[in-house]
Amino acid sequence: MSRLDSMLRRLTAQRDGLNWAADQIECMDGDILDMGLGNGRTYDHLREILPSRRIWVMDRVLQCHPDSTPPPEDFLQGEAEPMLQKLEAAGHRIALAHYDFGRGIKTEDVAESQRLSPLIAQVMQPGGLLISGQPLVGFEQIAGPETIAPDRYLFYRA
Ligand SMILES: C[S@@+](CC[C@H](N)C(=O)[O-])C[C@H]1O[C@@H](n2cnc3c(N)ncnc32)[C@H](O)[C@@H]1O
Repeated sequence: MSRLDSMLRRLTAQRDGLNWAADQIECMDGDILDMGLGNGRTYDHLREILPSRRIWVMDRVLQCHPDSTPPPEDFLQGEAEPMLQKLEAAGHRIALAHYDFGRGIKTEDVAESQRLSPLIAQVMQPGGLLISGQPLVGFEQIAGPETIAPDRYLFYRA
């Protein structure tokens, strides 16, 4: 598969997965967390589909499209470890987390997602959902929407 095809599949999976998860958490209290602001595409989508929720967004750098700039009070700028600890210490709890860290080097990306999993667990609402492009540990893996191939995007319950 070409990298273009692979990217198209990834973006479609992100959109379908986020839409699916947004429906699932309708009756659950808690905020949203987007790990990896990047260009701001998934953050912008979350804003659109979950307009009444607080959406935290995390990245070590602010380099998104200007239209997708988060309000400063919701942007956790820095390395993931201290930012997750800050969120946890402030008592915020997450009903839906999207994990989109990584730079396309599989071994490094998987090592990072495994290392961050316990810290992510600390901010999750019990029963909250995680959708992720990388494998997470310590959560119950669940089936996502039928439109997404099982290996393309991963779904978990806290
Ligand atoms: C694939 S991009 C995110 C794309 C974004 N979700 C979008 O839709 O445009 C990954 C982002 O995660 C950030 N990142 C990766 N590892 C990180 C870490 N450990 N702490 C903070 N930011 C990290 C990178 O700076 C990069 O901007």
